[in-house]
Amino acid sequence: MEQAPGNPGRRRLLLGGAAAGVAAAAGYFGLKYRPGAHGPGHEGSRFVNPLRIPGATARLGEASDAADAGIVLQTGIHPQPLREGALSDVWAYAQKTSSGAVQLNPTLFARSGGKVKVTLENRIGDDTTIHWHGLTVDELNDGSGLHPVRHGASQTYEFEVRNRAGLYWYHAHPHGQTGLQVHKGLAGLVVVEDDEELALQKALGLTWGVDDLALSVADKQFGLRNKIVHEVGADDWVGDKVLINWTQDPVFEARRGWLRLRLANTSNARLYCIGFDDEDRQRLPFHLLGTDGGLLDRAHRMESVFLGPGQRIDILLDLREYRPGDLLMMRSVAYDPMENDAGIGPPEDFAMEHPGAMPMGEDMALMLIRVNDKPGGASGALPERLSLHALGVREDAVRRPFRLWIQDSGRWMINHWNYHLAHGSDVFEIKRGSVERWDITNDMRSMPHPMHLHGFQCIVTGRANSPKQVVDRAIDPRGRTPQDLGMLDTVLVWPGETVSIQIDFSQPYSGRQRYMFHCHNLEHEDQGMMIGFAVVD
Ligand code: C2O
Ligand code: CU
Ligand code: CU
Repeated sequence: MEQAPGNPGRRRLLLGGAAAGVAAAAGYFGLKYRPGAHGPGHEGSRFVNPLRIPGATARLGEASDAADAGIVLQTGIHPQPLREGALSDVWAYAQKTSSGAVQLNPTLFARSGGKVKVTLENRIGDDTTIHWHGLTVDELNDGSGLHPVRHGASQTYEFEVRNRAGLYWYHAHPHGQTGLQVHKGLAGLVVVEDDEELALQKALGLTWGVDDLALSVADKQFGLRNKIVHEVGADDWVGDKVLINWTQDPVFEARRGWLRLRLANTSNARLYCIGFDDEDRQRLPFHLLGTDGGLLDRAHRMESVFLGPGQRIDILLDLREYRPGDLLMMRSVAYDPMENDAGIGPPEDFAMEHPGAMPMGEDMALMLIRVNDKPGGASGALPERLSLHALGVREDAVRRPFRLWIQDSGRWMINHWNYHLAHGSDVFEIKRGSVERWDITNDMRSMPHPMHLHGFQCIVTGRANSPKQVVDRAIDPRGRTPQDLGMLDTVLVWPGETVSIQIDFSQPYSGRQRYMFHCHNLEHEDQGMMIGFAVVD
């Protein structure tokens, strides 16, 4: 990991900005809300907690040390004040910086072509790993359940960053316990930069941490004394509170100008449909700049966008004409959750398992944005072209069909495979360097599954039999949405739908390299909605 050239003082600036952050925080409670949908007495009135911004608090810190020289992340339990009352038992990756400060789940910065070297010291009391979600790595660095790190042991992950600029993330991925460990908190963000990305920042005039933010969106289930609760073996663990960067009911003060939000859905099972409303509940369209694996070739105007577990979206809001005091609510807008699997398998007691959990698909306020009167907001021109990477469809790709379905017993399957039934063995081999087309078909008697591939990025080549809420967003004859036009490592497949993805299995490694393809609903993954495959010479 290197200091990004062209952005030399950023990290220092952020660390030095901590004091300023505290001063600003005090101001939030004195806000004068204008009457309106987000004003006092309305849903907006509870959004009073200043958004935690990486680098401005120790809670979700920014790696300030030269990470290519190696950083150490030690897993442990770190009680945190997440809400009123008792501290919550957050499981985190703790990094001691050279100044002696401890940062939890640091946001790591890397440069395309640079290096990542991270040593995991496991003190969590059970097996764990660090999986580098979305990054192109070999099997040993992939941190899947194939290579557990025992309690008390250490493992160094070291690899070259072969990905384009984008927001990636890292999280625990131990066999059968991924849902538990991620829900408890073992996850952080990775920001990769390259020349195209820096050119965009410069053109728009963005400043990291001020009008260019990374947001980790995760719902948590809180139990007695604010404990973070997860039940291994439970289904679809959706929580009773959505936290943004570990902030409950956050408010963010934005300058007039462009505001870029890079969101990662680090929730176990919750699917969001992200949109923005002003005080009159008018939806403010935004530009979609990028997806899991980096920038789109050009920005696409959208009113709302689905964000499945594991996925990332890069959004640009135009607040240039806003006035100080104007309010905007980031929300998950209502959508049809299509949980057509209800009633299959042993009876679920939703209320018992998820006390107070918000049902999927319901309209939900997530974060209040308040425009301040600070001068100097980002006001450059949005470039016509963001990226020159050509993502061409190859008609000669080898086809491979997958069916997602549920047995009457309630067990989720990929074709005739379930990871537990296959005893974790590789179910197929792929020749290194080949290009394949995977046709992923989801049964109608099913629910949306965010399907994730380790070690490679893919492109969507088409969608068929999509539900209305996807068709409504399609913009090309292949049935693809703007989000489908970028590089992805996680694709949402709705009930009844077939999503075709193209994967280039070229990689600079040799020998047998094993990876996973699984549903990123982490309860589905842990219950075996996952297959192992091997890339071979
Ligand atoms: Cu982000 Cu196999 O997972
Ligand atoms: Cu992954
Ligand atoms: Cu699933």
